[in-house]
Amino acid sequence: MSPLRLAVIVGSTREGRLGDRVVRWFVDQARRRDDLAVSVVDLAGYDFPVRYPAEPTPAIRSFVGQVGRAEAFVLVTPEYNHSFPASLKQAIDYAYDEWQAKPVGFVSYGCRSVGRYAVDQLRTVFTALHAVTVRDTVGVDLLADPPGAQAQEQLRQDARVLLDELCWWGLALREGRAARPYVC
Ligand SMILES: Cc1cc2nc3c(=O)[nH]c(=O)nc-3n(C[C@H](O)[C@H](O)[C@H](O)COP(=O)(O)O)c2cc1C
Repeated sequence: MSPLRLAVIVGSTREGRLGDRVVRWFVDQARRRDDLAVSVVDLAGYDFPVRYPAEPTPAIRSFVGQVGRAEAFVLVTPEYNHSFPASLKQAIDYAYDEWQAKPVGFVSYGCRSVGRYAVDQLRTVFTALHAVTVRDTVGVDLLADPPGAQAQEQLRQDARVLLDELCWWGLALREGRAARPYVC
């Protein structure tokens, strides 16, 4: 069976973002597995238009192409005012069919709430897009940085659980999509 194509989407486009460290750590966890082929989709690398255009621009086509090729997603998101960044919502909305019947997991970070409000809202968005969000998440507390040895082990365990769930759903939905067209 070929490895599941996992796209890790970097949600913060903020200059000087702290998210890079979280992304590097998580991608390293994911790349240790031989059941995953991991790519990184960094929203800061796309020259998205400020206004939603009537026709897709090359940047939008490129992003949508990446989403279409992936079989599973992990969104790495910070929390801004109890939600996720507008840059992430803008990008999510550029694709539609490409998200359908695929699993989505979350790695969030923030202060104290570790981005849980952001994840709750992202689940609502991905339900609207006919994606399947997996139950378990990884939450990184920026106030406990660097984490102690015990917290580091807990984070590695959380990443393992998230990736196990994502692989199960990813393979089940790969077979499902191949067997019959999605109903929508
Ligand atoms: C506008 C703004 C609002 C924020 N709101 C929250 C929040 O609601 N909850 C939280 O835990 N952290 C909040 N933070 C702290 C961010 O999680 C923290 O700055 C983090 O580094 C942002 O991710 P980034 O550096 O990768 O962009 C906020 C930061 C900004 C800039």
